[in-house]
Amino acid sequence: MDVYKAALSRRSIRRFKDKPVPYDALEKCINAARLAPSGMNRQPCEYMIIDDEQLLPKVFDTITRWAGQPKPKGTLLEHTPKAYIIILINRALEAEIVGNQRLTIYDVGLAAENIILVALEQGLGSCPMLAFDRDELRQVLNIPESYDIALLVSLGYPDESPVAEESTGSVERWADDQGVSHVPKRRLDDILHRKKFQG
Ligand SMILES: Cc1cc2nc3c(=O)[nH]c(=O)nc-3n(C[C@H](O)[C@H](O)[C@H](O)COP(=O)(O)O)c2cc1C
Repeated sequence: MDVYKAALSRRSIRRFKDKPVPYDALEKCINAARLAPSGMNRQPCEYMIIDDEQLLPKVFDTITRWAGQPKPKGTLLEHTPKAYIIILINRALEAEIVGNQRLTIYDVGLAAENIILVALEQGLGSCPMLAFDRDELRQVLNIPESYDIALLVSLGYPDESPVAEESTGSVERWADDQGVSHVPKRRLDDILHRKKFQG
């Protein structure tokens, strides 16, 4: 898959087909994350794959906001994710990064994008998520205190086709009459600065 085309066409997917995700596809995502750039090459990130039918609804329950809206606890939305990858930070490895603790968050972002793009290449949609209850997720998955829970990536075969469009001011997502989600993106001219800023 052409990397540029992939970067342009990728959209966050929040509605999935009722079709299981092969474990190998998820493992491939993590292998790509493993080789992502890492500050001082300390590689503090570790990963969990959740694809077990019993656990999927329990993880979904820990999500507090869905598509920007508060999600009432226990809501059983249709078309929920069919797998999750959780990016963890190994606190002991992070502590070795003397004076540069903030490096780790960049590692998480870069690893997440590798996961998302490799998922896309395999026909999988995804959505990075921060709006979940960390304590509850830790409890559900028995994650030791020696790990920080950095990011949840929801995955599955897409059952929606959101489109990006040039922003005309607002960056709020909106849905049209057919239920297609539109994602306004700031224009290239507005975000690209060449040479000096005007004094
Ligand atoms: C750090 C981060 C956290 C996010 N958290 C959530 C979330 O909790 N719930 C959600 O529905 N989407 C979440 N998103 C997805 C964004 O809403 C989405 O990327 C944005 O609306 C742009 O849409 P696009 O990904 O299709 O370009 C998150 C994205 C990022 C980068």
